[in-house]
Amino acid sequence: MARASSSEGAPPPFEPKAYDPRAVARVRERWSGQLRSEYRSAFVFSALAGQMAEAGDPVDVVAVTLRMAQDELRHTDTCADTVRAMGGVPDLPALERLPALALHAGESARQRALRNVLLTTCISEMHAVASFVASLDVMKDPHLRARTRAILADEVLHGELGFAYAEAAQDWLFEQATERDAVARYLRFAFAWAERELVPARAQRMREPTADETALGIAPSEAVHDLYATTMRGAVVPALEHLGIAAEDAWTRRALA
Ligand SMILES: [Fe+2]
Ligand SMILES: [Fe+2]
Repeated sequence: MARASSSEGAPPPFEPKAYDPRAVARVRERWSGQLRSEYRSAFVFSALAGQMAEAGDPVDVVAVTLRMAQDELRHTDTCADTVRAMGGVPDLPALERLPALALHAGESARQRALRNVLLTTCISEMHAVASFVASLDVMKDPHLRARTRAILADEVLHGELGFAYAEAAQDWLFEQATERDAVARYLRFAFAWAERELVPARAQRMREPTADETALGIAPSEAVHDLYATTMRGAVVPALEHLGIAAEDAWTRRALA
């Protein structure tokens, strides 16, 4: 895998001898998982850019989304560098296992794009932002702090895109009650689906991190478990409600069926 050619500058070197090797191994595995997630996100945003073009979105909106895909590839490299610094060997997920973006058959191209924007940015990227912030709150290691902050700066912009996109769709949603209701119905599923994906069941029985694990960025288990609901209720739902999308009701009635 190519090394990142970012302008963020080289972070301070990682000092593995400063920590319990078991803590380093646990945190290294988290960065390996993050690497896989970043890599998948690159292809999700690439597919989303195509759906935006099909919906007739302006070229600059499509361009921003493709740039987000590039950001995710750079994050993939950042994670790979971090795994290496912690003594591991970075491994990309197999291409055939990359997730396909939902096609929402039978829906309009604009409905399809808006639904996938809501899921991938307003919900997923906002949760990623909250997760990185929770980790930074406890993280002391200077190498990992530099790596995390470099990724977080982009993820904040990725989250913002979704709300700007929903704002641009406001007139269309206002004029098309059927489409507006379809978005609200979809949100019930999206909140439930993301909850299943982003709140791991194991978090409920995860042991509390040791002092070294905390210094390497593992937040207390209760904070990790509550992160999704706190972020949705505190930030995402109110922002979507402000844009005229019935997110509060969708959150309350969220269901996979
Ligand atoms: Fe990312
Ligand atoms: Fe992102």
